[in-house]
Amino acid sequence: MERTQVAIIGAGPAGLLLGQLLLRQGIDAVILERHTAAHVLGRIRAGVLEPGTVELITRAGCDRRLRAEGLLHGGVNLCFGGERHRIDLVGLTGGKQVTVYGQTEVTRDLMDARAAAGAVTHYEAEEVSLHDFDGPRPFLRFVRDGAERTLHCEFIAGCDGFHGISRPSVPESAMETFERVYPFGWLGLLADVPPVNEELIYVNHEDGFALCSMRSPTRSRYYLQCPAEERVENWSDERFWDELRRRLDPEAASRLTTGPALEKSIAPLRSFVTEPLRFGRLFLAGDAAHIVPPTGAKGLNLAASDVHYLSEALIEHFCDGSSAGLEAYSSRALARIWKAERFSWWMTSMMHRFPEVGRFGRRIQRAELEYLVSSRAAATALAENYVGLPY
Ligand code: APR
Ligand code: PHB
Repeated sequence: MERTQVAIIGAGPAGLLLGQLLLRQGIDAVILERHTAAHVLGRIRAGVLEPGTVELITRAGCDRRLRAEGLLHGGVNLCFGGERHRIDLVGLTGGKQVTVYGQTEVTRDLMDARAAAGAVTHYEAEEVSLHDFDGPRPFLRFVRDGAERTLHCEFIAGCDGFHGISRPSVPESAMETFERVYPFGWLGLLADVPPVNEELIYVNHEDGFALCSMRSPTRSRYYLQCPAEERVENWSDERFWDELRRRLDPEAASRLTTGPALEKSIAPLRSFVTEPLRFGRLFLAGDAAHIVPPTGAKGLNLAASDVHYLSEALIEHFCDGSSAGLEAYSSRALARIWKAERFSWWMTSMMHRFPEVGRFGRRIQRAELEYLVSSRAAATALAENYVGLPY
């Protein structure tokens, strides 16, 4: 039997960041993670951090490598009709930039800080189950090394992602969910080749969306829109590079450096929100509560803003004895979540090929893009969402 103040389920970026912010205020938190640390670090995810996310990682004391190795981007590019247009993030937002630094690296830095502080994480915690979170003394049961264990706590933070156990532990009648599944996926490729461009390029092409991103000056991350049911085995490296080159503007296409894929995978696109985010002493944060399609790179940033609200609320409770933040958590987090949901849905709608919209829909999409790159007001709306709305 073990006891802690906050039991966190999931050692993804949400759980680890929450653990670190609490630890810095002297609040004890134990993390239960289903997989090994190596498995968690093996997942390839997005890599664009809003300044607010960087600030939070700084507050958690985990920004040293991010500051040294992260790439500051003051602009982002949209390509359509074979032409590239730059959105000047710095100029349109009063000086804000995004930082390109992989989610895997954020996770590694948080894990290292947690290990250095001697905080407890039970990796390979199997069969985690949640109990009595509607009463004053919640607890978790789990199996580790074949033995059943119990973790008593004051609060449970469900940071266990979309396929976690926290959300399904709540009676369906107590929550409402909202969902949109998109009729396509993203085929991603990671390669040790220099990025085709210094800044990201989001491409709207007749044959589908493409994205040029990166992890460092020597490592690129590229994506192609593909049918939802597509199989990665159908895509040789050569086919991927040929298709990407075809979707880029001629100048970028001529500069594309290709190389063997380190990783290739297909991800579905989905929008999903659960309401509310609090059930007694259980709080949901990150992908456990919501999913955004990756266009706009809001997934990790949204997990970070949830954790900002939740950590402040828990600190207020444990340090000042006030439950006001805990009472407000769900509505404060959801207000920002829905704005990021809207932005991610809008970017997805504007940049992808939707078979069902027909010729009229395509002209509307084109008009929207042309308006965006010719109107300072429209470009500002994109820029302020891309760098992240205020907390
Ligand atoms: N018991 C214990 N741990 C679990 C369980 C379970 N039943 N189910 C899931 N987990 C763990 C997963 O193994 C994973 O390590 O919870 C963690 C959740 O991490 P993420 O999926 O990374 O979610 P989150 O921390 O909310 O991060 C959100 O990361 O997933 C991306 O696109 C997402 O960028 C967004 C960000
Ligand atoms: C990525 O680098 O993986 C990435 C960047 C921007 C996005 C999505 C993914 O919008």
